[in-house]
Amino acid sequence: MKNNKASIAVLVSGGGTNLQALLDAQKSGILKSGSIELVISNNASAYALQRAANAGVEALTLTKKACGGQQGMEEAIIHALEERGIDLIILAGFMSILSAEFTARYDHRILNVHPSLIPSFCGAGFYGLHVHEAALAKGVKVTGATVHFVNEIPDGGEIILQKAVNVHEGDTPEKLQKRVMRQAEWKILPAAAEKVSASLINRQEK
Ligand code: GAR
Repeated sequence: MKNNKASIAVLVSGGGTNLQALLDAQKSGILKSGSIELVISNNASAYALQRAANAGVEALTLTKKACGGQQGMEEAIIHALEERGIDLIILAGFMSILSAEFTARYDHRILNVHPSLIPSFCGAGFYGLHVHEAALAKGVKVTGATVHFVNEIPDGGEIILQKAVNVHEGDTPEKLQKRVMRQAEWKILPAAAEKVSASLINRQEK
């Protein structure tokens, strides 16, 4: 905690539009109980790194390759988080499944945004555009997004917020992805970050 705000680290791998939604929410005051202190990318060419730089937030690149594998990468992440006293970790398009050791260490302190209404179209193999391809292949008329706590089961942790989004006739995975992001992810991720940050502050004050 710094200045009575939860210190947040955002883990990313790609475009970083959800990171941008969090940075914008901080600026507009929607996210007021937490402060984004660090961005970590497991991909050196992620545009999310540019977004962090534009916002003046410290960013690190920790790839599996440079760290000698998944375990080495997780150790490097933990080291960076501990060094900065991070209270809350947000996975915002982070495309690597964290080990049970990692998730147990940060029990109820890791959030993830997933682009479907869990328990539909989730778990191993369901990430990014694949989720929307599967939703369209099934022919669902409503999909959406979920923010949940992260535990040892991929997309299996306690649900915090969900929002439904209509599928339109003629949707492509790309069109649907954009609509789900705009109507659901970019709203519920900042809202959940605020909710959990506020509860972490409350817990500390008691
Ligand atoms: C988002 O749609 C996010 O929900 C999804 O990847 C995209 C990342 O976009 N995450 C997963 O599929 C995780 N299982 P972004 O980098 O622009 O935020």
